Amino acid sequence: MNIKDKLNETVKVVPPSGIRKFFDLANAIEGVISLGVGEPDFATPWHIREEAIYAIEKGRTFYTANKGLLELRTEIARYLKRRFDLNYDPEKNILCTVGGSEAIDLALRAILNPGDEVILPVPGYVAYEPCIMLAGGKTVHVELKEEDHFKLTRKQLKAAISPKTKALLINFPGNPTGGVMSREDFEPLIDLIKEHELIVITDEIYAELSYGQKHCSLASFDEIKDQVILISGFSKAYSMTGWRLGYLAADPVFVDAILKIHQFAIMCPTTISQYAGIEAMRKGDRDAEMMKASFEQRRNYIVNGLNRIGLSCPMPEGAFYVFPSIQSTGLSSDAFCEKLLNQQKVAVVPGTAFGQAGEGYVRISYAYSIDEIKEALGRIEAFLKHIQ
Ligand SMILES: Cc1ncc(COP(=O)(O)O)c(C=O)c1O
Repeated sequence: MNIKDKLNETVKVVPPSGIRKFFDLANAIEGVISLGVGEPDFATPWHIREEAIYAIEKGRTFYTANKGLLELRTEIARYLKRRFDLNYDPEKNILCTVGGSEAIDLALRAILNPGDEVILPVPGYVAYEPCIMLAGGKTVHVELKEEDHFKLTRKQLKAAISPKTKALLINFPGNPTGGVMSREDFEPLIDLIKEHELIVITDEIYAELSYGQKHCSLASFDEIKDQVILISGFSKAYSMTGWRLGYLAADPVFVDAILKIHQFAIMCPTTISQYAGIEAMRKGDRDAEMMKASFEQRRNYIVNGLNRIGLSCPMPEGAFYVFPSIQSTGLSSDAFCEKLLNQQKVAVVPGTAFGQAGEGYVRISYAYSIDEIKEALGRIEAFLKHIQ
């Protein structure tokens, strides 16, 4: 028997993550400085860890409601009101998930029928296109441009809409570009979203990492709020990647449909993480701010450094990534990253890992110490001198 023949046809053609492939290479080399991984370098704040320890001590180790603890959903609703002036009912509108990742997958699976089109701005987060494929959808790319500061324009959205369009999947602040959309940037899109009845899945996992401006949620536009599935989580804002806790907020029709998949596939996110999440929502605002201030400092440092050594790098307004152009080197993104790794032992991610639209760019995460960033910049400078 050829076991491969037995696999699902879509699973067979989903490509493996370009980031993983590259880091398998990097891990095999000694002395590598990696600026590749997209996770905060802080330990989860102690009071949040302590709450999880306490939950274990108290024996809070049982399943929770499928939607997550009502106490946690209540805190999430309060948080969304406090931070972004969004009104959600904890009982009807909120579902706790295993990271934002589960929410992305389930939202797509709950709405897509075979052949439905999903408009996806690219370069974009690596999981989106595979999740669209696995849910039976068809991805329609919209190429975000550096000259537009990697924002989605009305003209681009309009051109991408077809009678088969079911949804728009967006992510601002964005991975890998750091692009941000303000209220003024979103405004021209709203009537299109309404007129064409687009469901918008908005992944706002980097909402707390908006620099110099307040994050604007697409869910704050009342005229389309019932069409919006808002996704977020604890990983980036509170440095809780390993806790695997996220959530979505949406109209009850969406929540109930998503719950059908979630309850059979997952049941509920880890109970101990949920108790930690309650603490993060109640008392974590200051931690999130402190971490953001540190990221902002590192952002300024790396952007100045990259421009100084000759890689053109705009100042991103959100997340913890820079997306410099490497076009001046004449190398492809893949070749640049491979040579940099082999010659100077610095690992950054080729822009093409986020779709073909990322050709000519690399993604560098600055969720690393200033010392590591400084060392990496020195090595990149030496690399650039060598190839010139
Ligand atoms: C844009 C984006 N969405 C979602 C995720 C997944 O986050 P989580 O840890 O909440 O599953 C990531 C992780 O890197 C991300 O960059």
